[in-house]
Amino acid sequence: MPANKPAISPSIKNQTRTSPCLVRLKIVNRMRKIIIAIDGYSACGKSTTALEVARVLNYRYIDSGAMYRAVTLYFLDKHVALTNPREVSRALQEIKVSFVVNSKGISEVFLNGINVEKEIRRMHISENVSQVSTIREVRLAMVEQQRRMGKDCGVVMDGRDIGTVVFPQAELKIFLTADMLVRAFRRQKELLLHDDLVDIDTIVENLQQRDSIDSNRAESPLRKADDAIGIDTTHITIDEQVDEVVRLALAKMILQPKPRA
Ligand code: CDP
Repeated sequence: MPANKPAISPSIKNQTRTSPCLVRLKIVNRMRKIIIAIDGYSACGKSTTALEVARVLNYRYIDSGAMYRAVTLYFLDKHVALTNPREVSRALQEIKVSFVVNSKGISEVFLNGINVEKEIRRMHISENVSQVSTIREVRLAMVEQQRRMGKDCGVVMDGRDIGTVVFPQAELKIFLTADMLVRAFRRQKELLLHDDLVDIDTIVENLQQRDSIDSNRAESPLRKADDAIGIDTTHITIDEQVDEVVRLALAKMILQPKPRA
């Protein structure tokens, strides 16, 4: 070391080693933990936004749609008769859906201990999942599990009924929308990542059909909660979506804790 360079005290040395991100994370970790519910239509960027918001805030991310997809995969594999409530209930007792965070920090869904993350994104699951999701027994089982997962707070959950049914007390509720064609192209790109080449008309048809089933079913239909904040994602990037949700979340997190009902 040159003789005229002042020695750095150990405390300053330690400070310079701490990255700004880590400092921010430490502050966020000390703030009030909240529940963030992100609902909306398919392919509006719910999962991507929720995952990234959870990463920024060091929260747990739960993809509730993945749970319905895993149940659908099991029902199709075992040829469960969807119209037979007893058969459905029995099958549900045989199913354990869980999430495991992989080495890249991404949460993956497991069905009875087997990683089914890729399989549940395939088109044949998308074609059946909304029908399975209308079944009362399925919804009761999934909602119970989702509430248990969010019990300790500090959670971002995305789906169709998170702000209305699963966590009506969520401190922040977001409702995402986007134009149909934009949604379809986004979904096509996602499917291609899984080597599933599907033409745009088939995707539009699937999205429209699912929107209709999800919005018109008797059990917890897809709708914007009265206190949800709507974000149209047609013309904005994922980064902009994430920034907006993080900004809204931080505003809630700095408020004084209120007793939970
Ligand atoms: O990824 P994408 O937005 O296409 O759908 P998803 O979030 O994986 O959900 C797949 C399907 O599960 C939806 O179309 C709904 O029928 C159902 N679902 C639901 O009923 N309730 C939820 N909380 C989440 C998903």
